[in-house]
Amino acid sequence: MILGSKIIKSEILTSTNNTAANLASASIVEEGTIVMTDFQTGGKGQQGNKWESETGKNLLFSIILYPKKLLPKDQFYVSMAVSLGLCKYLSTIVDHCRIKWPNDIYVSNDKIAGILIESSIIGNEFDYMVAGIGLNVNQEKFKTCKNPTSLKILTGKTYSGDDVLSGVLMSINVMYEFILKKNYKELRTEYLDHLYRFKEWNEFRSGNSVFCGRITDVENDGTLVVETIDNKFKKFHFKEIEFTLPHPGN
Ligand code: BTN
Repeated sequence: MILGSKIIKSEILTSTNNTAANLASASIVEEGTIVMTDFQTGGKGQQGNKWESETGKNLLFSIILYPKKLLPKDQFYVSMAVSLGLCKYLSTIVDHCRIKWPNDIYVSNDKIAGILIESSIIGNEFDYMVAGIGLNVNQEKFKTCKNPTSLKILTGKTYSGDDVLSGVLMSINVMYEFILKKNYKELRTEYLDHLYRFKEWNEFRSGNSVFCGRITDVENDGTLVVETIDNKFKKFHFKEIEFTLPHPGN
């Protein structure tokens, strides 16, 4: 198994992604090394947001990858592999777990995990990639996230972080091997199979326009394809589109 070959744990860090990137850029750690912490003073979310997490309650970790055979244009496959591994593992504990495009993990309509992938490219090759994961495990109350959930909220049980981490890593490892074997087609098919509200008619907002449509595809580079009610196919990049309901803005 590649992931979890080494685990570096600190009580407190600014951001596991920052520490992981520093270690990876200095090439002093092997592929699959995990950087984890109990608390982040500057936990990063997507689009410059902060990631909220109570001390010691959740999993906050980053996976260091050196996907040398993956072309930078195919970066989204890593996003697919990580979100799919996480979603599949969580599905062994709770029902209705889905990947909300591009890579949020939802249970029903609530967010249980977020993923932030950061990379460094030199020439046409990845120097390194850091996949940061925040998974809500035992936290029950949240201040900033609009629609959070956690394993504890969903099941009433308290979980061992170590057990959850090892399950998540095993599951993501299986999906990462798809990438190493260039098994991209199956990875994409499985990603679509686990996608939140795939092929369901919904109301979306893009800029100032609100329209009815349904997700019909996610292209290899992560572009979302939405069919509108008048059978037109529109393409969207990250943050260009959102569901209007049931949690506006998420
Ligand atoms: C999101 O906005 O949904 C992505 C959240 C990613 C949070 C994780 S927590 C571990 C890693 N370190 C960070 O600073 N961010 C990611």
